[in-house]
Amino acid sequence: MKRKNHGPDGPPPGSGASASGPEASNDRRSGGDDRRSDTTNHAVAGDRAPVTSPATDTQSFCFGENTTTVRYFSDPHTAVSPADSAGRGLTLCDRNVQHLVPEDTEPLILPGGEPAKRWAVVEQMLSEALDRGLTRASHFTVVGGGALCDAAAFAASIYMRGVAVELVPTTLLAMVDASLGGKTGINFRNLKNLIGTFHAAREIRICPATLESLSDREYFSGLAEVIKAAALGDATLLDLLDSDGEAVRARDRETVREMVHRSIAVKAGVVEADFRESGRRAVLNLGHTFAHALESSVGLGSWTHGAAVAWGIERALALGLHLGTTDPDYAARLAGILKRYGYARGPLAEVEPIDLVTAMRHDKKSGEDSLYFVIQSGPCNTAVLPVSDADVYVALAAPAVPAT
Ligand SMILES: NC(=O)c1ccc[n+]([C@@H]2O[C@H](COP(=O)([O-])OP(=O)(O)OC[C@H]3O[C@@H](n4cnc5c(N)ncnc54)[C@H](O)[C@@H]3O)[C@@H](O)[C@H]2O)c1
Repeated sequence: MKRKNHGPDGPPPGSGASASGPEASNDRRSGGDDRRSDTTNHAVAGDRAPVTSPATDTQSFCFGENTTTVRYFSDPHTAVSPADSAGRGLTLCDRNVQHLVPEDTEPLILPGGEPAKRWAVVEQMLSEALDRGLTRASHFTVVGGGALCDAAAFAASIYMRGVAVELVPTTLLAMVDASLGGKTGINFRNLKNLIGTFHAAREIRICPATLESLSDREYFSGLAEVIKAAALGDATLLDLLDSDGEAVRARDRETVREMVHRSIAVKAGVVEADFRESGRRAVLNLGHTFAHALESSVGLGSWTHGAAVAWGIERALALGLHLGTTDPDYAARLAGILKRYGYARGPLAEVEPIDLVTAMRHDKKSGEDSLYFVIQSGPCNTAVLPVSDADVYVALAAPAVPAT
């Protein structure tokens, strides 16, 4: 990996990142994962080393009773159809990523993004699988963003009581978050991720080159989840984000590969310990209580999920500072990283604090009386804490956390 000091990171020429900034974009919402907070304090894996070294070509994790292997590729076509792929499979993709599928593969082409997460689309996948004669020994290969991965993995989990699924995530968010950990799902009656299963992918194939056609808006949405992973469990990744801004923005393939490898190790470490989300997995919700409230208050689609999460992480720092829990030096450092990548910080003019708190209370993941927040005292040191409404209002009104 290149290691350079770039000073304050401006976006690379032509990236468009500073012109709009992730928070200022206005197309469809990436959507969030469906995670539950609980009443327990959870220290994340703390300062422990990543599960595997970024130098290795594969990572392997145990989710429930299944093993997920993550493999890294430099050529998208090889990632979609690796030479050693065995057995009959159904390849699914959407039009935005069809160019990544080799010509001799006949994929089922589906809607991309959130429209994939509908029952009608799942039915289409199941029908195609049956028409092509897929058996329980077959597998689905999904090429696409988190939404298509969620929906197709759900279809795979119910076809003939479950067939294997292999994911080729093509957004940064899907690489570091959506493809990993076994949560599948579709939306139902306007409720996000209401219907779903736990069905971990047999294999996840990462190819940084697939990100080249991705918009800045979607790339920066995923980058927020990388920052979250770094804050939760990888001090080296935090250093990379701090010092390699230019390579990160330019989607330098080696840098992307290292970011993905390290982020996956952090998430997998948490999920392996709590696959079915009975407690500890809640720490992955860092920034999400604020983010979900923002997304539902301003209307789905106006912010990407990642941009909302980045703002939520900054507000969680403000809350932790107000409560006296968060180390001010750490808060300043993390706020500095968020600032350098152009994410929104501080109170937002477009939404009233009362609307945000009301949305938090409606969020099905909230506790019964208190609201629960993931708060960090420092890097890799995280807890889920009950917080009074009064303290939440103070945090929402607090100015942007001073950034170094
Ligand atoms: N299962 C989980 O644990 C989990 C975790 C986090 C998020 N999610 C889900 O992930 C979804 C969001 O996923 P996302 O952020 O990847 O976005 P997305 O899947 O909605 O994709 C966004 C857009 O990018 C396009 N796209 C994808 N890859 C592309 C590429 N390489 N080049 C050009 N265009 C490309 C898609 O066609 C789509 O239009 C949400 O539905 C969310 O619920 C699931």
